Amino acid sequence: MNNSFFTPICTKLLVFVCCFSFAQKKTTEVNSQLFKLQIDSLMSLMTLEEKIGQTAMYSGGWDKTGPTISDHNRTYIREGNVGAMLNVYSAKATKNLQKIAVEETRLGIPLLFGYDVIHGHRTIFPINLGMAASWDLELIKQSARIAAEEASAEGIHWTFAPMVDIARDPRWGRISEGAGEDVYLGSQIAKAYVKGFQGDDLAANNTVLACAKHFAGYGAAQAGRDYHTVDIGTNELWNTYLPPFEATVNAGVATFMTAFNELNGIPASGNNFLFREVLRDTWDFKGFVVSDYTAINEMISHGFATNEKDAARLAMNAGIDMDMMGNVNKQYLKELITEEKVTKQTVDEACRKILETKFKLGLFDDPYRYSNATREKETIYKKEYLDAARKSAAAASVLLKNDNKTLPITPDKKIALLGPLAKDEESIIGNWAAAGDRTGKAVSIYEGLLEYVDKRNILYAKGCTIDSTEAGNFDQAIRIAKDADIILLAMGEHYHMSGEAASRTSIKLPGLQSEFIKKVAAEFPDKPIVLILMNGRPLDLSEEHLLVDAMLETWFPGTMGGAGIADILFGTYNPSAKLPVTFPRTIGQVPIYYNMKSTGRPITPSHPSEDYKSNYLDSPNTPLYTFGYGLSYTDFEYEVTANSTVLTPLSSIQVTAEITNTGDYDGEEIVQLYIHDKVRSTTPPVKELKGFQKVFIKKGESKKVIFTITTDDLKFYNQQLKQVAEPGEFEFFVGGNSELPYTHHFKLEEK
Ligand code: GLC
Repeated sequence: MNNSFFTPICTKLLVFVCCFSFAQKKTTEVNSQLFKLQIDSLMSLMTLEEKIGQTAMYSGGWDKTGPTISDHNRTYIREGNVGAMLNVYSAKATKNLQKIAVEETRLGIPLLFGYDVIHGHRTIFPINLGMAASWDLELIKQSARIAAEEASAEGIHWTFAPMVDIARDPRWGRISEGAGEDVYLGSQIAKAYVKGFQGDDLAANNTVLACAKHFAGYGAAQAGRDYHTVDIGTNELWNTYLPPFEATVNAGVATFMTAFNELNGIPASGNNFLFREVLRDTWDFKGFVVSDYTAINEMISHGFATNEKDAARLAMNAGIDMDMMGNVNKQYLKELITEEKVTKQTVDEACRKILETKFKLGLFDDPYRYSNATREKETIYKKEYLDAARKSAAAASVLLKNDNKTLPITPDKKIALLGPLAKDEESIIGNWAAAGDRTGKAVSIYEGLLEYVDKRNILYAKGCTIDSTEAGNFDQAIRIAKDADIILLAMGEHYHMSGEAASRTSIKLPGLQSEFIKKVAAEFPDKPIVLILMNGRPLDLSEEHLLVDAMLETWFPGTMGGAGIADILFGTYNPSAKLPVTFPRTIGQVPIYYNMKSTGRPITPSHPSEDYKSNYLDSPNTPLYTFGYGLSYTDFEYEVTANSTVLTPLSSIQVTAEITNTGDYDGEEIVQLYIHDKVRSTTPPVKELKGFQKVFIKKGESKKVIFTITTDDLKFYNQQLKQVAEPGEFEFFVGGNSELPYTHHFKLEEK
């Protein structure tokens, strides 16, 4: 095609005509012929360089108040070499860059703006491991919806979330970002996030593209060390690590992101099996794939690519459509096409998927639709968002211990609030806190208490820092606590101790915090002591849990964290959360999770230290706190019945759990169904979560929860990687955590 014919005006006219006729249709109708015609028309105008430009993503810079844009980025954009930017937000900053792309380039193709809106944008919710502890899919979806409202109001089109990596190693800092150890819970939560971020219409300007990450197996990094080698057997890969990603595809996720790690010898960012065979050929994913940050280049360090040009070849041929910050597509793709190492068609396909996504967002109708300063001002920190964040902070906090009904506290008590996280407003919003404010916006635990008790009744001392090993100021704290009726210890990790590149070899409380707890417990054996934890991973609390009367795991509870915690401490909210991840007794048990395999020499619970069994000389096999565990201020009793003990592929079994609130508080219970396939062609986990429902039951009242078991609930990938349910004996129980005995059984028959 003779480019000189396409003068800028003429080109824009043609593009405009395409868009205008296209705008008559909802920009989300990806499959319509008209839509395809628009893309074909636009691509027919594009040079190879412009197509390659769409496959490149660059990062905005950061100054103390937010993102800055280097001139070098502006030049790249003006040259048509940029398809997307990350780490740029605000109506002003995005509009400035978008204007360059739309008004100063030959074809005016709009940019995508992406950002890590993981657990909130301005209004920050509890970290994702905390949100998972709520087991509240509607709340999780709402948190993503609110994040999308705020992020889209600040010019963001695309969030790099949800992170759906199954994680069973608390040494790994990024366990904080996901939904924990279980494939069923993780898959349900993954869907909720995608629906929350993307809403029902991507063409609306308050919805954002979601991004399933990090494909795949990132959470299985050896020794819990971030970016480390991942070697997962086929059975485990298909039955545990892949299903949450498939759940996001089924929920309509718009994009995927590669993992940094190699998977079984092939780095994810050059992995045809993952991105062609599984994601596209098997799951029929229609969106586009972005690499993680320079992950393509890192294939050189993996020893898988000779140089950046080789890395660009491997990634593009593996189906990685966009290069995040690697700058390899721009440099080498044209050459690789000339050398016939990458085909033009491959690049066309990558470019097409990116353009389709931009059309779906309506950016060709109005490229500035997300960069609206008025909407930005009106949207962030709405009261309803802060209220939802407060409710989430309470719903995410797990009551691990509450001896002698230490909690809730009556407001007349004199409280000693001690510890390095008591007045914290920085770590409380956790890692990956996007545009969250760490300089005073968050409600600390101290401020949360002030809503319930007079300031004169709160005796505060820091006592020690989070991680320094210099002797803290224990004595001052002890002096302060002498007059208190109850002692609250606010302890945990700094937010930098979890998240990316934040693995720990120890999962004990850092610094001198444990010593501080021992000192307080020794000084005040008769005062009730409550340990309030803020941390991004399961901790080894094997000493601390013996020293205190109550323990509340709040994770990093977000902007309204202190308020939500206070709502629990004073009984306004009856804690209901359940652990989405196992808390080991010691790091030596890791990996440990609730549904491990039986082994050929399982221990007999009544004889746990029997010889020649699969156990330890120095620790029980059981964890300190199991998956699905969490206390309430009230008690729930279960009566479980089933309408049959025989299941066929055409029938179902209805399980009815009648739950009675026999305690003194109204409360929510997370009712869990666990099933065990006793014999199958690949060894079965000792149990599997196959259903859960969260119900509110007033004190003294009962409610029925019904689960319907079908063969779909029993399917697994067999040796031939077929999803099958095999006839045989099954047992199940329904209850409030994963460590309960089986109470029912059934038989699956061929027909
Ligand atoms: C990071 C993370 C990824 C994130 C991306 C963009 O390295 O691995 O989760 O979305 O870069 O910030």
